[in-house]
Amino acid sequence: MREEILEEISRLTALGLKRTLRLVEGPQGPRVTMDGQEVVLMCSNDYLGLANPPLVKEAAIKAIEKWGTGAGASRLVSGNMEAHHILEERIKEFKAAPSALLFNSGYNANMGLITALADRSTEVFSDRLNHASIVDACVLSRARVKRYPNRDTNALEKLLKASAAKKKLIITDSVFSMDGTIAPLPDIISLLERHGAMLVIDDAHATGVLGESGRGSLEHFRMEGHPSVIQMGTLGKALGSFGAFVTTEQEVIDLLISRARAFVYTTALPPSVCAAATKAIDIIDKDHGLIRKLWENTSTITQGLKEAGFDTMGSETPIIPVKIGDNHKVMDASRRLLEHGVFVQGIRPPTVPNGTSRLRVTVTAAHTGEDLKKALAAFRGIING
Ligand SMILES: Cc1ncc(COP(=O)(O)O)c(C=O)c1O
Repeated sequence: MREEILEEISRLTALGLKRTLRLVEGPQGPRVTMDGQEVVLMCSNDYLGLANPPLVKEAAIKAIEKWGTGAGASRLVSGNMEAHHILEERIKEFKAAPSALLFNSGYNANMGLITALADRSTEVFSDRLNHASIVDACVLSRARVKRYPNRDTNALEKLLKASAAKKKLIITDSVFSMDGTIAPLPDIISLLERHGAMLVIDDAHATGVLGESGRGSLEHFRMEGHPSVIQMGTLGKALGSFGAFVTTEQEVIDLLISRARAFVYTTALPPSVCAAATKAIDIIDKDHGLIRKLWENTSTITQGLKEAGFDTMGSETPIIPVKIGDNHKVMDASRRLLEHGVFVQGIRPPTVPNGTSRLRVTVTAAHTGEDLKKALAAFRGIING
C-alpha cells in the first residue's frame, strides 16, 4: 500500500498536479505575511474583509464568554443553541426567505441538501462547471445525473424535454467559483414551471457580493422570493466566518432536519462562529459601502489585467481568473508573483478542466489603491520576466 501511495505522489508531481500547503502567518487581510515576507493577498474569498475586523471579533469573543467554545452535540441532540437560532433568523431576514437551516460548511450543505432531495427516481440536471461538492453529492444521491454545458440553457431545456423522470432537480452555482461568471438564472427559472422542476442555486460566491445589498444572485436579477428556488450560501467567504445555510420553504427545511445526513450526524457549529456571521450580516446590512468598494476594486483589477494583455476568461465578478493553461507554468507564474510580493494561488485540474490551469485572482473591499497597484505591477512584471 505504501508503495502505491508513493507511486501516486510521483505521478502527480510529474503531471504538475501535486498540491502543497502554504502557511499564512497572522489573520486574513489584504496583506499577510508568508515566509516572513509581507505580501498582498489576492486569492482569499474574504470578499468584504469581514474575517478580522474588531466588531466581528468582539461578537465572537462575547459569544464564547456567554456560550462557551463548542456545541457539544448535533442540533438534534443537545447542540441546538441560541446562537444557531439567532443566526438562522438573521439569515431568513437577510435572504428574504421563509426559512433557513445552518450546515457546518458549504461542502456539507450541498451534500445534505442534494442527498435529501434526490434519490434513484430523480433526474438531476447539473451545470458542468458546478462545484466539486455538488458533483460529489450527486454521486452519493444515486440520482441519474445529466450534466449540461456551462450556462447553456438551450442544452438544459433539451435535456428537460427528453426527461420522463417524476422528480427533476436543476442545480447550478450562481457564481462559478473558478471562472467568476454568473449563471443565467432568469432563463433557468423560466424553465421550472414548464418542466415541473425544482432549482437549487449555490450562492457561495454571491452571498455578500451580488445585489446592491449583498443578498445574492436573486437580488442581482431582482427575482427574490421565488418559491421553487432553494438557495445554499456559505458563511466562510464574504461573511468572514465558517459554515453554511440553506434557505427555502419550511416544508423543505422540515425534510432536511429529518433526512439530511450531513445535518443530522454532525456536531453543531460553535456558537462563536455563528455570532461572528450574525455580526457580519449586520455590518453588510447597515452599510452597502463595503459592497460598492468591492466592485470598484473588481473593476480596477479586471481592467488592469485586460490592459496588460491577460485573458480573464469573461469574468463578471471579484473572482478573476487569469488563464495560463499548462499545470507547471501556472505554478511557476504563482511563484514569480510571490517574488514580486503578491500571492495568487495557481488552480489546476481536477478543480478546473484539463488545459485551463489558471491564476485565480480575487479582489476584496479591504484592498487599498496601493495594494491593487502593486498587484497589477507584479502581473506586468511576470510578463516581462
Ligand atoms: C461554489 C461553491 N460551493 C460550495 C463551496 C464549499 O463551501 P465551504 O468552503 O463552506 O465548504 C465552495 C467553496 O469552497 C464553492 O466555491
